Amino acid sequence: MKHVINALDFTVEEIDELIAIAEDIMMYPDKYSEVCKGKKLATCFYEPSTRTRLSFESAMLSLGGSVLGFSSGESSSAAKGESVADTIRMISCYADICAMRHPKEGAPFVAASYSSIPVINAGDGGHNHPTQTLTDLLTIKNLKGRFSHLTVGFCGDLKFGRTVHSLIDALVRYNDIKFIMISPKELEIPDYLRKEVLDARGTEYREVNILEDVMPELDLLYMTRVQQERFFNEEDYIRLKDSFILDNKKMSLAKEDMFILHPLPRVNEIAVEVDSDPRAVYFKQAKYGVYIRMALIMKLLEVVPC
Ligand code: NCD
Repeated sequence: MKHVINALDFTVEEIDELIAIAEDIMMYPDKYSEVCKGKKLATCFYEPSTRTRLSFESAMLSLGGSVLGFSSGESSSAAKGESVADTIRMISCYADICAMRHPKEGAPFVAASYSSIPVINAGDGGHNHPTQTLTDLLTIKNLKGRFSHLTVGFCGDLKFGRTVHSLIDALVRYNDIKFIMISPKELEIPDYLRKEVLDARGTEYREVNILEDVMPELDLLYMTRVQQERFFNEEDYIRLKDSFILDNKKMSLAKEDMFILHPLPRVNEIAVEVDSDPRAVYFKQAKYGVYIRMALIMKLLEVVPC
């Protein structure tokens, strides 16, 4: 049985296969509409979510399956002190597959070790978010047609932004990929990522703190919100929250074929005026999340039709 805990749980070949399935779903949705009939997905979310939880649920419903679950720790027995290990043992009796989001780094990994059904990490603290990465990869493939020969800017909260960590992990495996990390000093990428991923792979990257200076170089700009819930101190959040605001003036410096991605939710970091720029693809990106999660659920349940 396979669990999905971080982005590196997939080889590049497995990513290609999931993307191919997702693209087939986009073209022939009817072919997949009953593939998961009789199967149940549990969404166990101990942290807020709109896109991830609902896109998982929408994905399972589109496959003809059903969904059950909870959307906050307070509405589950976690509020009575039940451990993740015990909860997943129960969920294993009620469902065939589980997507879990948790504020504690490593919680889905612990759950997987006690589970008799596949567990998918739907975001663990400031650590990883592998299914957002699959969503981002499907978006990049559809818009740019490749994962190689790209200069990718990551902007905002690169310290706590789990979507950034997982996407970097996945992208370093492709050829001629360059990163420009744009953040205030306090929100730079974690040291383990610098040493164990970027330096270890010899990936070209630089760290800067002015977005305008690097806009003309970028093929993709991945914007992120400052992760308020991970700050120890409200004053630091208030000081840093509006460090970068992408607006039309900054967009005028970008290449014609550069795309803006954002895992969403957006707070202030992208001005609403940018939404009508054809290069702003974050709402389209959210839609791709359903197709790739459909592909993933089928793959983990081993029900992909020929
Ligand atoms: C992200 C997350 O939860 O990490 N959202 C998402 O899943 N699309 C990004 C965020 O919350 O800022």
